[in-house]
Amino acid sequence: MLKRSLYVRIVGTFITVVVLSVLISYFTMSFFFHNEVIFDEEVKNVTSGVAEIIELTELEDVPALVETFQTYYFNIMIFHESGEPLLDQYPSIPLSDSSIIDVFYSAEEDPVILPHGKREASRVAGIPIEIEQEPYALFLHLDYEEEMLSIKKLVVSSLLFVLLIGSLLILLASRRLVTPIKKLTNAAKEMAKGNFSVRLKSKDKDEVGELITSFNHMASEVEKIDKMREDFVSSVSHEIQSPLTSIRGFTKAIQDEVVPKQNEKEYLDIIYQETERLSRLSENLLRLASLDSEHHPYHPEVYKLDEQIRRTVLATEPQWKSKNLQILLELDTVEIYADQDLLEQVWLNLFINAIKYSPPEGEIHIHIQEDTSGVKVSIKDYGKGIPEEAIPYLFDRFFKVDKARTNSIAGNGLGLSIVKKIVMIHHFSIEVSSKEGEGSVFTVLIPKQQNDTGQTS
Ligand SMILES: Nc1ncnc2c1ncn2[C@@H]1O[C@H](COP(=O)(O)OP(=O)(O)O)[C@@H](O)[C@H]1O
Ligand SMILES: [Mg+2]
Repeated sequence: MLKRSLYVRIVGTFITVVVLSVLISYFTMSFFFHNEVIFDEEVKNVTSGVAEIIELTELEDVPALVETFQTYYFNIMIFHESGEPLLDQYPSIPLSDSSIIDVFYSAEEDPVILPHGKREASRVAGIPIEIEQEPYALFLHLDYEEEMLSIKKLVVSSLLFVLLIGSLLILLASRRLVTPIKKLTNAAKEMAKGNFSVRLKSKDKDEVGELITSFNHMASEVEKIDKMREDFVSSVSHEIQSPLTSIRGFTKAIQDEVVPKQNEKEYLDIIYQETERLSRLSENLLRLASLDSEHHPYHPEVYKLDEQIRRTVLATEPQWKSKNLQILLELDTVEIYADQDLLEQVWLNLFINAIKYSPPEGEIHIHIQEDTSGVKVSIKDYGKGIPEEAIPYLFDRFFKVDKARTNSIAGNGLGLSIVKKIVMIHHFSIEVSSKEGEGSVFTVLIPKQQNDTGQTS
């Protein structure tokens, strides 16, 4: 369908252009020849020349001379002023009744061109002459109508020839144009069916080549997204499956009374933690989905960052107290322009990670520093650290350094991806520096902003 209509359009356009040019050239040719001044001049010159020769001739020799001229296709008629023809027989020259009078009364010495009507390449010129002191009118007829017609035929037939050859060539050329488009259509159909591995080859640098390059780029992006979606589904299923498995195992054990009474509490604790983990998972998934959507809530305002950090530390007191951690705060008083609720999530996730991965009795340092470039918030722990090769993936969804860990501190690997997402929404940035066995520092950089309220922070 596509192929046919594009062909039709290209070939149709070509044919229309050629047919129009044929018509236009045919008519303009006729028009210009009709009004041809050079042709008129030529006829006048020839007429004057012929008139001079005849004037020099004796009256009795004129008929013979006229005959001679006739053999060279100069048709000549000569009339006496009275209207009497000089010769008995004349070739037919289209003359009107007033032609003779017109010639004598034209004030000029020059020949006059008689009106030639529709005939484009035929002219009659008239001039008054004197033969042996007697006034005569001489008419000369030059007729190129036939030649004109054959030229027209030649032009039209060569244009028709161009039309024919051109149509054939255009047909071949448009195949070159249409084939890649057809391939693209098929590839797009393939993609619609779910085959995202289709790629097209193109050597051309033209628009179609560019289209193919863009298509390939789009296909690879879609393939990536599809892969991400698959990974995501399998990660989610896995994250749901493992707590469910342990919940089912432990409840079954308690039901079947395989568990000694004094251990029941411990098992119930595990069940409780696993349900907590499941609910954290769904909470985080919902949060991510909301952040991913175009309409996630985002209500930035100016507020005191140091107070927010202090609140976060207070809110998590049970966690860090139970590990006997020491929290050291060094907070400059700063105001920033950001969404408070979203940023609270950032500090909470980073701080809880620091608590989780710190050894008991450890230390956590939180700094807020403001300088000319902006505000830096760093959260530093002295815990197990992160292996260098894991750092590039740290902010990926479901990424966990230690995948096998199933104890209570196991998260679901979504915390840092939420952090990253919120940081991106604000156009802030985040950096990690970590050494295995020595600890990690997460630093959020808040660039100097020109905010809506007109304040810089
Ligand atoms: N402060 C830290 N110290 C050591 N490892 C960390 C720290 N923060 C994050 N990680 C590593 O990065 C992984 C991803 O973190 P996160 O997205 O918060 O998921 P989780 O739910 O596992 O905490 C964690 O599983 C952990 O391996
Ligand atoms: Mg976490």
